[in-house]
Amino acid sequence: MEVTSAPYQDLPPALRREINAMLHLAYQCEGEPDPDETLHRPALEARAFWLAHNGRLAAYASAFGKTIIHQAAEFSLGSLGCVATRPEMRGRGLGERVVAAASDWLRACGRYDIAAFSCDAELLPFYRRAAEWEAADVVLIANKEENALRSDRLGKAVMLELLSERARAAEASFRGAAVNLDLPPGEFI
Ligand SMILES: CC(C)(COP(=O)(O)OP(=O)(O)OC[C@H]1O[C@@H](n2cnc3c(N)ncnc32)[C@H](O)[C@@H]1OP(=O)(O)O)[C@@H](O)C(=O)NCCC(=O)NCCS
Repeated sequence: MEVTSAPYQDLPPALRREINAMLHLAYQCEGEPDPDETLHRPALEARAFWLAHNGRLAAYASAFGKTIIHQAAEFSLGSLGCVATRPEMRGRGLGERVVAAASDWLRACGRYDIAAFSCDAELLPFYRRAAEWEAADVVLIANKEENALRSDRLGKAVMLELLSERARAAEASFRGAAVNLDLPPGEFI
């Protein structure tokens, strides 16, 4: 079983529907999955990573990005998201493998100055084992609205890596900082 990867926009509609349905199950969402919902806005230029087992989608992760402004400087930020394994396939290392593949791509693709995402603190050992992610002293804030989603209020740990020379040169400005992601309402990473 190899991790397959492709731009999300190129995936056939049937696979997109299967991804939606699996994520719906994995995240225990209420109601029925929306078969037509686009998981990743085209502007995020998402790349999909998945494992199939016996012709069924078993595990999924995506990498995507956007531009942020941090302390008056523009950076390209790449993120991991929608990490999930079909409930009955968990505990076999599949989640780790899709995260490893998506992380390798995120770090090596050359598109991003920064890699960042948030997760429940209890999942830190999972991300550390999968791809050596470590928690950073940073707060992610969805946007500048008063009630914007933010990692500290959500109780999330933040993973942040400075990838480019330019980002590493600005390392001090990220230490202990609040990073505004400038996301639309309701979105978070
Ligand atoms: C997190 C998830 C993707 C892991 O998938 P997986 O295929 O079981 O992962 P692996 O087999 O590679 O690793 C399993 C290990 O992850 C860790 N882990 C998984 N879920 C965990 C959780 N909720 N809390 C703590 N540790 C967890 C455990 O250490 C587990 O090891 P174990 O099986 O020996 O107990 C899967 O549990 C899932 O889909 N969860 C729901 C969606 C989710 O929370 N996604 C992450 C959002 S940031």
